[in-house]
Amino acid sequence: MAVLVTGGLGYIGSHTVVELINNGYEVVIVDDLSNSERFILKNIEEITGKKPFFYPFDLRRRELLTQVFDAHQIEGCINFAASKAVGESQIKPVDYYENNLFTLINILQEFKERGISNFIFSSSCTVYGQAEKMPITENTPLKLPESVYGKTKQMGEEILIDFAKAYQRKISLLRYFNPIGAHPSGKLGELPIGVPNNLVPYVMQTAVGIREKLNIWGDDYDTADGTPIRDYIYVVDLAKAHVSALKKLMESNEQTVIDIFNLGAGKGSSVLEVVKAFETANDVKVPYQICPRREGDITIAYADVTKAERELHWKSETPLEESLRTAWKWQQYLESKTV
Ligand code: UFG
Repeated sequence: MAVLVTGGLGYIGSHTVVELINNGYEVVIVDDLSNSERFILKNIEEITGKKPFFYPFDLRRRELLTQVFDAHQIEGCINFAASKAVGESQIKPVDYYENNLFTLINILQEFKERGISNFIFSSSCTVYGQAEKMPITENTPLKLPESVYGKTKQMGEEILIDFAKAYQRKISLLRYFNPIGAHPSGKLGELPIGVPNNLVPYVMQTAVGIREKLNIWGDDYDTADGTPIRDYIYVVDLAKAHVSALKKLMESNEQTVIDIFNLGAGKGSSVLEVVKAFETANDVKVPYQICPRREGDITIAYADVTKAERELHWKSETPLEESLRTAWKWQQYLESKTV
C-alpha cells in the first residue's frame, strides 16, 4: 500500500515525503518539476536511505495518472501540486483555476472510481481573510479571498467536502499559516523562482547579498511595532502534521470524515521581529527600508491550534530562531551548489 504525494518535490511536499518515509509509508511522488528540481529526489534519498517512486508529469494528463494508479496500490493522497504565487494568480486567473482545480478533480476521479479514501488537501489561512478576532479557529467565518490563488483553495475545499459527503470518503483540509525554514540537514528547503514574494526567502537573499535591501511593506499597521503580524510555522513541524492527519483518517472507523485543521505555531510575530530573529540566529545583518503597504496585505493572522493539538496529538514547538537557522543553512547549501 502506498501514499500518493503530488508536488512531492516541492517545498512542503518534500519535507512531508521525508516524514512519511520515516514513518514507514511507501511513497509515490508525481511532480511536473514546474516549481521544483530533480536533485531534491536524490536529497530525499540521502536523508531517508529510501528512494520513493517518482513520476515527472503534469497531473492534468489524466491518462498518465491512471497508469500510476494501475501500477501502485494507492491508499491515500496528500495533494501539494498547485500554483501558489498570489500576484501571478491575479494576472493568470484561468491558468490558476485550470492548474489547481483540474489536477484535483483528476485525482478525485481516480479515487471515486477505485473506491479509495484518505485525501489530504493543502489549504491556506488565506480562506479567513482578515479575521475579526484573534486567534483564528476553524470556526472563524470564511471570507471570499482577495486573490485567485485564495479562491482556488476555497473552491478546492468545497469540492472535497462534496466528494466526501457524496461518496462517503475521508478527507482532511489543512489550513497552513506561514511555513518557513528548511530541513535540518540543509538539503531540502524553499526554492523561490525569480524575485521572492515571501518574507523569509527575501530576507535570506538580502543577507546573502543577492538583494540589496529588504523592502518592509508598511510600518503603519495597528500593531506594536507597526509591521504586520503572521504565524510562522516551521516546515518540518508542518510536515509532521500531515503524517498525523493521514494516520487519523486511516485509523478512523467512520466511513465519512471531514477534518479541518489550522496548522500554525499558534503565535504571531511581526515582520520586524522576524528580521531581528534572523539576524540574531545567524549573526548576519539584513539591511532594510520601510516602503508603502503592499496591496492585499492584512494586519494580523495567527492560529488557534488547540484542535490540531487535541485531535492530531501534534504541536509545533520549534522556536522561530531555530527555524530561521535551518533556512540559512539551506541558503548556504544553495550557494555551494551554484559556485
Ligand atoms: N513582507 C515584507 N517584505 C517582503 C515580503 C513580505 O515586508 O519582501 C511582509 C508582508 O507585507 C507580510 C509578511 O511579510 O506582512 C509576510 O508576507 P509573506 O508574503 O511571506 O506571506 P503572506 O502572509 O502575505 O502570504 C501568505 C502565503 C500565501 C497566502 C497568504 C494569505 O504565502 O500563500 O499568506 O494571506 F495566500
